[in-house]
Amino acid sequence: MKFLYTNALLFSFLFVFCLSHVSASNSSIDNFLQCLPSRSNPSHPISNAVYTPTNSSFLSVLQNYIRNSRFNTSTTPKPLAIVTPLDISHVQATVICAKTNGIEIRIRSGGHDYEGLSYVANVPFIILDMFNLRSIDVDIPNETASIQSGATLGELYYKISQKSNIHAFPAGVCFTVGAGGHFSGGGYGNMLRQYGLSIDNIIDAQVVDANGRILNRESMGEDLFWAIRGGGGASFCVILSWKLKLVRVPEIVTVFNVQRTLAQGATNIVMQWQQVASTIDNKLFIRVQPQAIQQGGSKTVQVTFIALYLGRASTLVPLMNKSFPRLGLQAQDCTEMPWINTTLFWNGNPIGTPLEVLLDRAPSPSNSYGKNKSDYVKTPIPRAGLEAIWKKMIQLQSNNVFLMQWNPYGGRMSEIPENATAFPYRAGNLFKMQYITLWQDDGVEAINRNIQATRELHATFTPYVTKNPRQAFLNYRDIDIGTNNNGNLVFAQDYFKNNVKRLLEVKAKVDPSDFFRYEQSIPVFPKRK
Ligand SMILES: Cc1cc2nc3c(=O)[nH]c(=O)nc-3n(C[C@H](O)[C@H](O)[C@H](O)COP(=O)(O)OP(=O)(O)OC[C@H]3O[C@@H](n4cnc5c(N)ncnc54)[C@H](O)[C@@H]3O)c2cc1C
Ligand SMILES: *[C@@H]1O[C@H](CO)[C@@H](O)[C@H](O)[C@H]1NC(C)=O
Ligand SMILES: *[C@@H]1O[C@H](CO)[C@@H](O)[C@H](O)[C@H]1NC(C)=O
Ligand SMILES: *[C@@H]1O[C@H](CO)[C@@H](O)[C@H](O)[C@H]1NC(C)=O
Ligand SMILES: *[C@@H]1O[C@H](CO)[C@@H](O)[C@H](O)[C@H]1NC(C)=O
Ligand SMILES: *[C@@H]1O[C@H](CO)[C@@H](O)[C@H](O)[C@H]1NC(C)=O
Ligand SMILES: *[C@@H]1O[C@H](CO)[C@@H](O)[C@H](O)[C@H]1NC(C)=O
Ligand SMILES: *[C@@H]1O[C@H](CO)[C@@H](O)[C@H](O)[C@H]1NC(C)=O
Ligand SMILES: *[C@@H]1O[C@H](CO)[C@@H](O)[C@H](O)[C@H]1NC(C)=O
Repeated sequence: MKFLYTNALLFSFLFVFCLSHVSASNSSIDNFLQCLPSRSNPSHPISNAVYTPTNSSFLSVLQNYIRNSRFNTSTTPKPLAIVTPLDISHVQATVICAKTNGIEIRIRSGGHDYEGLSYVANVPFIILDMFNLRSIDVDIPNETASIQSGATLGELYYKISQKSNIHAFPAGVCFTVGAGGHFSGGGYGNMLRQYGLSIDNIIDAQVVDANGRILNRESMGEDLFWAIRGGGGASFCVILSWKLKLVRVPEIVTVFNVQRTLAQGATNIVMQWQQVASTIDNKLFIRVQPQAIQQGGSKTVQVTFIALYLGRASTLVPLMNKSFPRLGLQAQDCTEMPWINTTLFWNGNPIGTPLEVLLDRAPSPSNSYGKNKSDYVKTPIPRAGLEAIWKKMIQLQSNNVFLMQWNPYGGRMSEIPENATAFPYRAGNLFKMQYITLWQDDGVEAINRNIQATRELHATFTPYVTKNPRQAFLNYRDIDIGTNNNGNLVFAQDYFKNNVKRLLEVKAKVDPSDFFRYEQSIPVFPKRK
């Protein structure tokens, strides 16, 4: 053992020696930096878009789009440089110069990746940070919008509302999520039962491929366009922008948000919700949000029922009374408002909050630790199962926010074939669940305790959720389901099920040198056991 140890030391000494020798004369990062200007449009100097660690703004540029404190520590691996393109040619230059110098890139748009994979890596890397490329053009006569990948959902919703009160786009609830990651991972929101996912309403895209070429739907071909709708962008190319087909909504729609604790019969209500939520009128989306809370001196579970109905309260109340009577929804629980106001309501903003909060790029609180996971349910969870789950939530909740979101499927989701896009979870799924753990205690003990609690709750669900694969949602990135080390594909089966095969084919075709790689990217020619 001692012998091996000494040898290893000697080896690493030589390795470090060689490395520092190379970096002094002709290091790949220096070559990369020198390569950039020759590959970019001279009327937009790329020197204004490059941050190296010696730049006094380097740390703040890095931290501006970190959304999870777990990856905001002094020991979190840092990039060799951050390129923040101000022009499309800067994206092309970054790809070409990184590829020729053998440097890995990580692509970041909104930075919401749950595992920080858009800005953390355990290899030398640079960040291609898209936040400056954020223009949005809404074309109401054509009912379309173009959106660059660095724009946020809040900005998109705001821009649509400035031009129309009867148009919308089906996408996520959180305003600060970026178009680059969100749409390439599928993108879902509270209109999915009526209009499907974001990707079901995307009609074109502009990307930079591994050779630095700019392609659109026609020039990239249907295979790549299929892959980037649900398969994640970062395995294949850099997404520059998307073209969206807007959807129509009534001038006035209705929302509600009601809570029931276990003592108020929440279990009975959730039993009925499981039967009706995926078959009720497509215009109605009712999310269930169970949360372990302190009440008086003890803990219980409180279930929030939060809904969007694309119609008036006068229709919703009788519909609920007929199909979902156990909730006991009353007219006074409902609020009518324009669709744009519902985006604030769902985000938890009080009525009257100015619409301009949609443009706010800094989430609050800005410093939160988190670990999330996902699951899908195909048959209703029996009462005894629900009771076991509530018990577990109560037991595991500590100094944190410990909750779940159950999002009903059905409607439009069941009409779209599993292979229409890379996102495979369509008919047959009653609902998708997200496990959410948020905490603010610093330190390793809190990280371990909270991650462990999330995993334990996930384990409690094993009998009630999909298996082989245990389906997971790419946008709810979870490193627990594996990485692509040694050609492992378990994570890909969980995210993409039967679509893995075509994703592998597309990858081999468009990026045979595996330039667009990261911990959960689609590998090239994986080694199979
Ligand atoms: C508060 C919150 C609420 C959320 N709500 C929802 C929701 O309602 N519905 C939903 O579907 N999801 C939701 N999500 C998940 C979210 O959609 C994903 O985290 C999404 O990947 C974030 O995109 P981003 O651009 O902000 O993230 P990033 O961290 O920048 O990127 C995520 C992934 O996409 C890649 N990527 C980013 N930009 C590009 C690009 N231009 N080209 C190629 N690859 C790129 C990254 O490399 C990384 O792999 C939520 C997340 C948070 C934190
Ligand atoms: C120096 O960098 C250039 C450009 O990347 C490369 O072509 C050349 O082989 C390198 N030289 C050495 C000695 O590594
Ligand atoms: C840091 O980098 C930016 C972008 O390239 C540049 O504009 C700025 O002058 C640099 N600041 C310092 C102190 O070097
Ligand atoms: C990251 O750290 C910076 C500097 O301490 C802080 O301003 C920022 O809020 C932190 N962000 C997160 C998500 O922890
Ligand atoms: C809008 O639609 C018209 C008619 O189909 C078309 O000629 C025009 O190019 C479209 N505009 C955009 C920006 O796509
Ligand atoms: C629900 O329907 C029942 C009978 O069908 C009726 O008595 C009751 O008032 C209705 N409740 C609401 C809130 O509409
Ligand atoms: C919608 O939101 C705006 C901004 O807060 C507010 O002025 C308006 O009164 C709201 N409308 C309704 C019907 O709630
Ligand atoms: C988990 O999801 C919630 C709700 O969407 C979000 O607020 C939180 O930031 C997510 N956690 C992580 C680790 O990003
Ligand atoms: C999806 O699968 C069906 C049935 O196998 C097939 O006919 C169809 O061509 C496939 N569609 C795509 C987009 O691959």
